[in-house]
Amino acid sequence: MTRPWTDAARPVEDRVRDLLAAMTLEEKVGQLAQVANPEPERDAAALAAGAFGTCIVASGEHAGNVRDAGTQAAAVNALQRAAVEGSRLGIPLLVARDVIHGHRTVFPIPLGQAASFDPELVRECARAAAREASADGVRWTFAPMLDVSMDPRWGRVAESWGEDPWLSAVLGAAAVEGFQGGPGGSALADAESLAACAKHYVGYGLAQGGRDYAEVDVGPVTLHNRHLRPFRAAVDAGVATVMSAFHTLDGLPMTAHRPLVREHLKGDLGFAGPVVSDWDAVGELVLHGVAADRRDAAALALGAGVDIDMVTGAYGTHLAELVRDGLLDPALVEDAARRVLTLKMRLGLFEAPYTDPGRAAAVQLTAGHRALARRAAASAVVVLRNEGALPLDAPDLGHVHVTGPFASARAELLGTWTLDGRAEDVVTIADAVRERLGGGPGGPGGATGTTVTVDDARFLDETLIQARAADVVVACVGEHPMRSGEANSVTSLELPPGQTELLEALARVSRRLVVVVLTGRPLALERLAHLGDAVVLAFHPGTEGGHGIVDVLTGDVPASGRLPVSLPWTTGQVPLHHDHLPTGRPLDPDGPAGRYRDHRDTPQHPFGFGLGHGEVTYGPPSLSATTLGPGQDVEVTATVTNAGSLPVVERVQLYVRVRLGRVSRPVSELAGVRTVELEPGASAAVTFTLGYADLGYRDARGVLECVPGPVDVRIAPHAGAGAAVRLELLDGDAPGPSTGTRPAVSAGTGARGGDA
Ligand code: BGC
Repeated sequence: MTRPWTDAARPVEDRVRDLLAAMTLEEKVGQLAQVANPEPERDAAALAAGAFGTCIVASGEHAGNVRDAGTQAAAVNALQRAAVEGSRLGIPLLVARDVIHGHRTVFPIPLGQAASFDPELVRECARAAAREASADGVRWTFAPMLDVSMDPRWGRVAESWGEDPWLSAVLGAAAVEGFQGGPGGSALADAESLAACAKHYVGYGLAQGGRDYAEVDVGPVTLHNRHLRPFRAAVDAGVATVMSAFHTLDGLPMTAHRPLVREHLKGDLGFAGPVVSDWDAVGELVLHGVAADRRDAAALALGAGVDIDMVTGAYGTHLAELVRDGLLDPALVEDAARRVLTLKMRLGLFEAPYTDPGRAAAVQLTAGHRALARRAAASAVVVLRNEGALPLDAPDLGHVHVTGPFASARAELLGTWTLDGRAEDVVTIADAVRERLGGGPGGPGGATGTTVTVDDARFLDETLIQARAADVVVACVGEHPMRSGEANSVTSLELPPGQTELLEALARVSRRLVVVVLTGRPLALERLAHLGDAVVLAFHPGTEGGHGIVDVLTGDVPASGRLPVSLPWTTGQVPLHHDHLPTGRPLDPDGPAGRYRDHRDTPQHPFGFGLGHGEVTYGPPSLSATTLGPGQDVEVTATVTNAGSLPVVERVQLYVRVRLGRVSRPVSELAGVRTVELEPGASAAVTFTLGYADLGYRDARGVLECVPGPVDVRIAPHAGAGAAVRLELLDGDAPGPSTGTRPAVSAGTGARGGDA
């Protein structure tokens, strides 16, 4: 048989059309079936028949929270050979895996990466992960997760970019471009690129009570302005695939949500790639009570616009029969198969289906990737409190004691969803302290006699004796990764049992106590408000976690992490986010009449907060014009000064409050971030450009509109600070298309608040 679709010189659409014309109905359906962990011998007949088009390498147990056997190029090549050489049409397989925040080299969890407020860093981490995973034969990752996370009891907040839709959109788009090798999917055919997957479409971050998989109820305005925003940005960035979520939204499971998947995502937003279900979610339609059986579920899901059935097997078993029985339009199967085949061609799989088995050793865990992981881990560290205890700079530290359950932890630093990271690769916090401060003879601290001792606080009497003897105590506490991530919700955001008591005991005997909190979620650290001399939040920092954390503790790297989520005082305050709506009874945060009778109304630490090793002051913002009309831009500038004695890396944030709309607008909306590096005493004028459309808001149909009226604009170190300047939005026609435009951001040089 001649195979005109293999001619790479022809346009992809023509090749896919010719291939579809040569395919049987069963072969087309095969492209829509995704199986887990196929094996060339065991699955030879299915591979020869083209019974599945994609596969996922995953154990399915513990929702990806344990390391599995993984995959290697040789194993993928054997499968690929069976598909390409053993089947009638020679269609290559597409191999997927959850490459979430690294592969062999593990970067901080996404929530930690978000604390960098740095899209360039996120892009680099995703690029490095793609380079490593593609060397093992993987060409599709189920990342980034774009669920704007409203409830930190939900374990999957760890996989998210936090609570803010603008930040989620900017960082999510950067991750897409990193995985895919560039904007618009133009570099997908590069052997080092992965197809990205924007997940979980949509609203999953609202799971009721923070209970994973639970129902979601959300109105259309909030859905369009908050939860769909990062998905629009991902589509604009050229994301290759989208995953529908597990939950029901207003009673309808997302796997069967025709209005949001087929009509909005594929229609209004023009998404042209395949939509994949979540794991077994087609089958779960029966459990949700909207499908009588799996055959019914298959028809519902495909009709809703879900092109690929991840592991249920319902598509493979039932779709052809449904078409033959006249119960399913064959054009739906054709369209879904076209989306899958187009992606395979764009990835260059028809030309280069095999992976060079020698590449993994050359590209995984390289010095360059380790250096990036170290930089990323340092960028994720948020200093919450510092009563003169930091930085820990040699030479006069004396005796440093490192303690707590994470002092010598390895695998635990990697965080949730690290299928390919290895404990033995991890630099522990204790090792990094020893290396940097202990030194031994000739080491940085050794020459002056700094000694470092370590224990893991298993025998508290012994720990307290050592702490009392030390000049500095570094206590490493926090959440085990199995307490966050999928299916791991909690009812209390406090430190796990016993840890606060450990810290209280240490505080009583320590001369200088530095608390390092490792976590997958925002915690309620009220009991640490006055405890110890410094508290830092390091999330789950990855392979180079020890180095990254110690780089910040010592001041070798300026503390630049900022909170991508508000930190509540207590669990009962959640959900709590900076961009809430005003009420008709505004609250004076310092006044006597709070809403809660038993606690404060504001967070312990607001969104965007994080201290540097010094003092930074912000001048008042000024505008290049006081009015803004359609098609116009306005520049907002403030002078930021390093008033301290150490260099700083400042994440300067732009917030707006649009005072008038057809619906009530949030009291604070993040609209831009810029990074400035300032030497002691130095100042910089930081300028943001705001466009007219940046101040728009979407209506219940998703259409962007601007309402004339006053806007307060702030340039501030976090959501809870900064003086506002008043801008007047003028009348005009609704700006731009309903899909909006991707926010353009260049970290370190500038940021432009854009609608996504
Ligand atoms: C998760 C997804 C993941 C998939 C495949 C599901 O349980 O919700 O995020 O990509 O499994 O492993």
